[in-house]
Amino acid sequence: MIQPVTWIEDRVEFLDQTKLPNEESTFVAHTSDEVAEAISSMIVRGAPAIGISAAYGFALAWLEHGDSAAFEDAVNRLAVARPTAVNLMHGIKFMQQHLQKFTRMGTPNEKISELLIGEALGYHEADIAMNQEIGARGLEAILGIGPEDPRPEALGQKLKVITHCNTGSLATGGYGTALGIIRTLHKKKCIEEVFACETRPFLQGARLTAYELSKDNIPYKLLTDNMAAWLMQTEKIDAIVVGADRIARNGDTANKIGTLALAILAKQFKVPFYVAAPTTTIDLELADGSQIPVEERDKEEVLGYRNTVWAPEDAVAWNPAFDITPADLITGIVTEKFVWQPNDPDFPEFTSEAIL
Ligand code: MRU
Repeated sequence: MIQPVTWIEDRVEFLDQTKLPNEESTFVAHTSDEVAEAISSMIVRGAPAIGISAAYGFALAWLEHGDSAAFEDAVNRLAVARPTAVNLMHGIKFMQQHLQKFTRMGTPNEKISELLIGEALGYHEADIAMNQEIGARGLEAILGIGPEDPRPEALGQKLKVITHCNTGSLATGGYGTALGIIRTLHKKKCIEEVFACETRPFLQGARLTAYELSKDNIPYKLLTDNMAAWLMQTEKIDAIVVGADRIARNGDTANKIGTLALAILAKQFKVPFYVAAPTTTIDLELADGSQIPVEERDKEEVLGYRNTVWAPEDAVAWNPAFDITPADLITGIVTEKFVWQPNDPDFPEFTSEAIL
């Protein structure tokens, strides 16, 4: 399985996603500031992978600074590395709770370092397990069958599925959320073809989702984002499955820019529209999507790509990295614990007890 982030001895190693698919190179972080840099420059990206990186970054900050004001400052810098994915704060809060517990118990500082690393590793593993469970629940939501259900009429279905951005192993602890569901469907031989939107301007679909689908031999076609409407007009699409960066209490969902357009198209063409995310992406503190902070990134990402600039040098650009899809456009939110639908009153009690 592709590993976007790995803890090795006293450092964090990232598969540098800004270089993929042309180059598989490693960015090594020895300090929490280097982890923050990896997150803000999108060497590592995708909400769950950002949360895991933050947990490792927290452990590194403790190794570097111990119990001090410098430690608090380093954690604060980590916390603002990217604003939209709530998993970043979740990873940090998870580690803070464990640190408080160890301190209350009077654990010596060197021992705390070791224990914090153990907790971050556990957080990473838990994310992979959640992804697998999302895959199983996604199968149930989309096909109406459980993972062990051998009913041939359901398993005989071959689906055409659209996805957006990258929500696979690269964006998580491993396996993936929306792409995890697609992987599970493919294992059941239920995928005819995946349509992957290229995802302007950072090209996560063209560079990263295509990279993962190719490696797994899952049949796919890439399309530019503006082809989606015509695709839905001319082909029968069975489902759209996307990820999430933050889900408010009413189900409004922030995800990669372009998701809202797909959700509106899904309504027009009567295509079921699923969001897949672990419960760590749900922010119960926010009543609705209007309160979700939307990151705006540098205009350079819109004016060109890597060393190529195609717009006039003085061109002005707008670069919101996410949009917010209202809950009523969503057929179902698939988590590791439940599938929520917009007419359900509230998210069921979940409190991610295994996690926090
Ligand atoms: O800007 P990115 O690449 O971090 O945005 C990623 C997305 O929007 C994903 O869909 C989301 O984080 C879910 S990843 C499982």
